[in-house]
Amino acid sequence: MLKKDISQYKENIIEELKGKNAILTAGDKTIGFNSLTVSWGGIGVLWGRNVAYIFVRKSRYTYQFLEKSESVTLSFLDEAYKNAVLYIGTHSGRDENKMKNAGLTYTYDPDYDGAYVEEASYCFKMKKLYQIDLPIPQNQAIQNQYYTEDGLHTMFVCEIKQYLEREDLYELH
Ligand SMILES: Cc1cc2nc3c(=O)[nH]c(=O)nc-3n(C[C@H](O)[C@H](O)[C@H](O)COP(=O)(O)O)c2cc1C
Repeated sequence: MLKKDISQYKENIIEELKGKNAILTAGDKTIGFNSLTVSWGGIGVLWGRNVAYIFVRKSRYTYQFLEKSESVTLSFLDEAYKNAVLYIGTHSGRDENKMKNAGLTYTYDPDYDGAYVEEASYCFKMKKLYQIDLPIPQNQAIQNQYYTEDGLHTMFVCEIKQYLEREDLYELH
């Protein structure tokens, strides 16, 4: 993977997230890690820092790792890994080693405590900065669609510390 500056990020983040191929991994070398698939989020600037916003329900097993560790990565995978991404998003790490069962390889870099997916086209290595429990949305249609069961979301703001890109990313496009 090439280490790049996040200002060189060229993808359309809306398309990337809606394309359903983003895997969030939380945890570190001390406590271990867990992944879930995410499609809600964004990137931007807050407190003078380059950040990603992610939204995770408290009921997810990954939430416990987000609470205990500051290391959070976002790995974006090609369509070829769609089934693995779906597996991560439909099974819980509470019940099995789903990262292994999905057939994905996880890597730790020597300069950072969190793991990311080696098969990713690109990846954000991040540090958790802030979290806040979101109240139930005022909008009735959103309430009905998303909040009749399974609990509320917590928003995590994570500083993007490093942007990694596969060397052949743009040759493939
Ligand atoms: C395409 C897709 C997108 C998802 N996006 C989110 C999300 O943004 N936030 C969230 O909390 N869960 C999201 N989920 C659900 C979790 O990935 C799923 O519940 C997962 O099995 C949780 O695993 P865990 O219990 O090991 O943390 C998504 C699932 C899929 C399939």
